[in-house]
Amino acid sequence: MRVLILGARGNLGSELLGVLADHEVIAKGHDELDVTDFGRLEGFVRDLRPEVLINCAAWTDVDGCERDSRRAFLVNAIGARNVALSARKVGAKLIYISTDYVFDGTKEGPYVEFDPPRPINAYGMSKLLGERFVKEQHPESFILRTAWLYGRRGKSFPRTILSILRQRDELKVVDDQRGTPTWARDLARQIKDLIGTEAYGLYHASSEGSCTWFEFARELLRLWGSEEEERGDGTVIFRIEGRAVRLKPVKTEEFPRPAKRPRNSVLENFLLKVQGLNMMPDWRESLRRFVEEIKEGGFS
Ligand SMILES: NC(=O)c1ccc[n+]([C@@H]2O[C@H](COP(=O)([O-])OP(=O)(O)OC[C@H]3O[C@@H](n4cnc5c(N)ncnc54)[C@H](OP(=O)(O)O)[C@@H]3O)[C@@H](O)[C@H]2O)c1
Repeated sequence: MRVLILGARGNLGSELLGVLADHEVIAKGHDELDVTDFGRLEGFVRDLRPEVLINCAAWTDVDGCERDSRRAFLVNAIGARNVALSARKVGAKLIYISTDYVFDGTKEGPYVEFDPPRPINAYGMSKLLGERFVKEQHPESFILRTAWLYGRRGKSFPRTILSILRQRDELKVVDDQRGTPTWARDLARQIKDLIGTEAYGLYHASSEGSCTWFEFARELLRLWGSEEEERGDGTVIFRIEGRAVRLKPVKTEEFPRPAKRPRNSVLENFLLKVQGLNMMPDWRESLRRFVEEIKEGGFS
């Protein structure tokens, strides 16, 4: 199949390149094709005539989106609409990636696809509008909501934690926001599987299981070095590259940020499961495989 990937230099786009190596893949980064430029985008898609278009282009800086919501809506909503229109005109299947941040986080337990979205920040609002535009403009589309995405390329939580680790002996990480870390490689494989079907619609597609950001960091550091001791206040001591490093759990209030975050954004892949399509593994197992790769080859 001829597959066009937009926003191809981020976490997900770069993993898709590897996973779809047996297809004819055309990958365009932000500097090569901007989803907000409808004229150029539509012309390019018309000439290329891809059978599948995967839109990984997004402005994913949650606090940046809060500060500049116009830009957030331009890229994440209008950009998504531009891509959907361009795909429909050439009859290409479309994949749009959305987020767990469409939910407000007040539910007890995991969110399923029938739960009403109610975003509490500009990023979530812009992505939800992107979903609506995609649904309106293109019936042959897959909308995949994922969560806490990380990979070797692009900004991500593991990259941030491992880089702070080199500068400090103590890391403070919030322990009252729960979600599911998802390796971009796993999502890329799920997408590869779905584009071979016509099971269009809205899906939750994150890894299995859940944790807080603190628990995510704890598992990452345990895999990176060795865990030595847990103190009464919840601080965990690790030995990493010959140094003692402290990981301390803190409350969201201790880290004021421009954008609010949902307390719980755990997703259940309910609709993938009922159709026998769910391929997403447990987050801990995926993180283990990811850390092995990073130890070998580093981030890129
Ligand atoms: N990261 C997460 O935790 C997370 C969680 C849930 C859902 N998602 C969704 O998953 C998808 C993939 O995320 P990701 O982690 O791979 O993000 P990412 O690493 O930030 O990659 C997004 C890519 O889109 C590009 N881009 C930005 N504006 C663009 C524009 N106007 N035209 C074309 N390309 C543009 C970026 O390029 P520049 O960097 O050069 O601007 C970047 O390479 C996104 O739709 C995101 O909303 C992500």
